[in-house]
Amino acid sequence: MKILVVGGAGYVGSHTVKLLSAQGHDVWVYDNLSRGHAKSTRPDRLIQGNLTDRPLLMKVLMEKEIEAVMHFAAFALVGESVQHPAMYYQNNVVASLELLEAMRAVGVWRFVFSSTTATYGQPDIIPIPETVPQNPINPYGFTKLVVERALRDYAHAYGFGSAALRYFNASGASPDGSIGEDHDPESHLIPIVLQVALGQREAIHVFGNDYPTPDGTCIRDYIHVDDLATAHVAALERLEPSKVMEMNLGTGVGQSVLQVIEACRKVTGHSIPIVNAPRRPGDPACLVADSSLAQRTLDWKPQYTSIDSIVQTAWRWHVTHPRGYKT
Ligand SMILES: NC(=O)c1ccc[n+]([C@@H]2O[C@H](COP(=O)([O-])OP(=O)(O)OC[C@H]3O[C@@H](n4cnc5c(N)ncnc54)[C@H](O)[C@@H]3O)[C@@H](O)[C@H]2O)c1
Repeated sequence: MKILVVGGAGYVGSHTVKLLSAQGHDVWVYDNLSRGHAKSTRPDRLIQGNLTDRPLLMKVLMEKEIEAVMHFAAFALVGESVQHPAMYYQNNVVASLELLEAMRAVGVWRFVFSSTTATYGQPDIIPIPETVPQNPINPYGFTKLVVERALRDYAHAYGFGSAALRYFNASGASPDGSIGEDHDPESHLIPIVLQVALGQREAIHVFGNDYPTPDGTCIRDYIHVDDLATAHVAALERLEPSKVMEMNLGTGVGQSVLQVIEACRKVTGHSIPIVNAPRRPGDPACLVADSSLAQRTLDWKPQYTSIDSIVQTAWRWHVTHPRGYKT
């Protein structure tokens, strides 16, 4: 299939591009490199452009005869979204609608969308099924929910077939060490802990050790980035006109902050000192996915089921790329 991967120079996008290319798809990356890396993708397949540039998007969709779009491009920092909501509504909502309109204008209807746990807010039910009400507690989560709702309406009115995949915590790196996670600033736990092991930070701050969890620290569901990639491909294969799929992607197993740090100690051999810090506002105690719907619908199963195996792939990337793609 001829596929346009928007935001394909970013973390999750680049791993999905790698898998799609390996499977023989004709893949083009469309990215403005605001938060991505040219080096994460093949230069002859990278089109540098902004989502808001509808004429360029239409030209690319037509000239490359694109049949499906995967949309990873967004800003994705919760704190930043609270401080700069306008930026988030602009880039995650308005720009996404530009993309949908460009597709509509040229008749492309297949769409796979990166959504997030943040659309749920702080649900009472753990593991979280898709049936719990979505009540985001920050602008980032709202922006993703707005696009999910637009996709339902685009399916009904215009025949779009889409999959909104709600990831939990994307983690790890390609096992061959060629691509990995490089965000600036980095907000994700595993790369930050590994920066301590690399000597780039003194210690890891643990925000809150009095949560109602077994060891008092927050619990999250870490899903390997290559498992996300395989779910995207499976979703793509199952798109149908006017059909909307919305599903969680996680492992169903939660890891506390202390368990992740312990896994990083084991894998790196570094003592990784801890500094206890107050809770951060808006951090739910526990977010774990019920991803049985995705497992059934997509005939998909995460291959990385232990946190150690996820950390091992991340460590391989960080140790060979201590300054990320700038190495
Ligand atoms: N990483 C996670 O744990 C996680 C969890 C849940 C959901 N998500 C979602 O998955 C997607 C990918 O996440 P990621 O961690 O790979 O992010 P990322 O920042 O690494 O990648 C996003 C890419 O989109 C590009 N981009 C942003 N705005 C653009 C625009 N207006 N025009 C063109 N390109 C633009 C950036 O340059 C970057 O390459 C995001 O939509 C994010 O909200 C990520």
